[in-house]
Amino acid sequence: MNLTLLHRLLLVVALAGWTLTLGGFLLWDLRLAREHMEELAIKEARSNFNKDLAFRLWATRHGGVYVPVDDRTPPNPGLAHLPERDIETPSGRQLTLMNPAYMLRQMLEEHGDFYGVRGKITSFHLLNPINAPDPWEAEALRRFEQGESEVLEFVEDDKEPRLRLMRPMETREGCLKCHAFQGYQVGDVRGGIGVTVPMRHYLDTLGETKRSRTIFFSVIWALGVGILVLLDVQVLRRLRAQEEHENVLKAQRQALIRANKDLTRLAEVSAHHLQEPSRRLLTFSQLLKDRLKVEETDPEVRRSLEFVEQNATYLRNLVRDIQLYLDADKPQGQPAELDVNEVVARVQQKLAPLISETGAEIKVGELPPLVFDLSRLRDIFLIIMENSLLHAGTGTRPRIVISGERLNGMNRYRVSDNGSGIPEVYRQRVFEIFERLGGGGRGTGIGLPIARRMVESAGGEIALETADGGGLSVVFTLPAKPPGEDG
Ligand code: HEC
Repeated sequence: MNLTLLHRLLLVVALAGWTLTLGGFLLWDLRLAREHMEELAIKEARSNFNKDLAFRLWATRHGGVYVPVDDRTPPNPGLAHLPERDIETPSGRQLTLMNPAYMLRQMLEEHGDFYGVRGKITSFHLLNPINAPDPWEAEALRRFEQGESEVLEFVEDDKEPRLRLMRPMETREGCLKCHAFQGYQVGDVRGGIGVTVPMRHYLDTLGETKRSRTIFFSVIWALGVGILVLLDVQVLRRLRAQEEHENVLKAQRQALIRANKDLTRLAEVSAHHLQEPSRRLLTFSQLLKDRLKVEETDPEVRRSLEFVEQNATYLRNLVRDIQLYLDADKPQGQPAELDVNEVVARVQQKLAPLISETGAEIKVGELPPLVFDLSRLRDIFLIIMENSLLHAGTGTRPRIVISGERLNGMNRYRVSDNGSGIPEVYRQRVFEIFERLGGGGRGTGIGLPIARRMVESAGGEIALETADGGGLSVVFTLPAKPPGEDG
């Protein structure tokens, strides 16, 4: 999948997640604010209700209160059945009895602005039609009859939001003085009293809270979005840079491969063209030497001829080794299961002249078999054993020990000698092409590099180690089977 597209999708998901989370928090916060506002309003309604009730009960305990008669306080016709509704003070002032409902109504009429909260007493059985219940109150009274002890509701009347609270009012001993004639007994529900709290002010405050919370959350949301987008830009930039970097690397790699191919081709062509002339040079210099009778020749001419022959030999070997080196990374035939002991035995035969010349003793252990191409395996052992024969046993009789073992799918072979060894610092260099240390067996300095190229191109490793007796060990590994053919 396209990386940038995937990355865009991730950004959209992150933004949506952030928006939903914050939106959820905002809704929750606003709900809390509304609940809090309603709690406050209910508290106000209840405390007002309690005050009204306390006032009514206080007046009831005194059986009503006598006040001077004036235009706004005429005698209450609802109390006409009481013998002492109107009395006269010794000085002749007229007093009349005020019942609790009357007192409270007058107080609210004259001073209701202090409150803002309206109180009301009501019943289905009226002494005064002014106390008639409105539809909401009628509904509440019916619910009291079904046993409810409080009715509380947020309502909208005359387009004004209000909170209404109502509770039943039970008949007590003190009520009977005025209400007994209606047939009430102590404990009867005589009606209900209620309060109404205007909600306009609360709703305004809530609106302000909502606005400020919304702004606050929006700012946080915008900040989050900003950070997400910034991060996104950064990541995108980095992705692009990486892509570019990879493209550059790819181009470089291709250029390298091409250059390597060109150089290899050049080396192949050069070696091919040098092959014939170098061989001829050698053949003709030998021919010339044979033709000249030893006793007749000027020693100077003879030395020169020998010199030519030597260099021609070197040239021929060099061309041959370069070709070997170039081909070392390719199999020289079908890979087959090889008996490595047999391969080593044949190499030993090939090296017989050198072995008898140096008087070397060669000990070969049990060598694990290997799937590989015969030609290259022979060359590897040939190069390494020749190298050992030339370096082994300076002063003493050369001794070469060849051993092998198998570890987790890799075969490890070891060719050790009893020579003077090579100091650690030079060990890596003997595997570099044209690094001649002390004149290798083939004289070209390419022997060990060829062996290394053969081993490494097959997935193995080659290295020099110090042998048990202090000499040098050449150790190399090769996969027991070519990759993909396990089991
Ligand atoms: C001093 C006499 C008096 C006492 C005490 C008194 N009331 Fe009343 N009450 C009245 C009168 C008169 C009215 C009707 C006129 C008015 O609204 O002023 C009334 C009205 C009411 C109403 C409104 C419905 C209606 O009939 O108009 C209720 C409910 C009520 N009283 C309940 C009670 C209860 C419960 C008590 C005892 C806690 C009580 N009253 C104590 C005289 C009294």
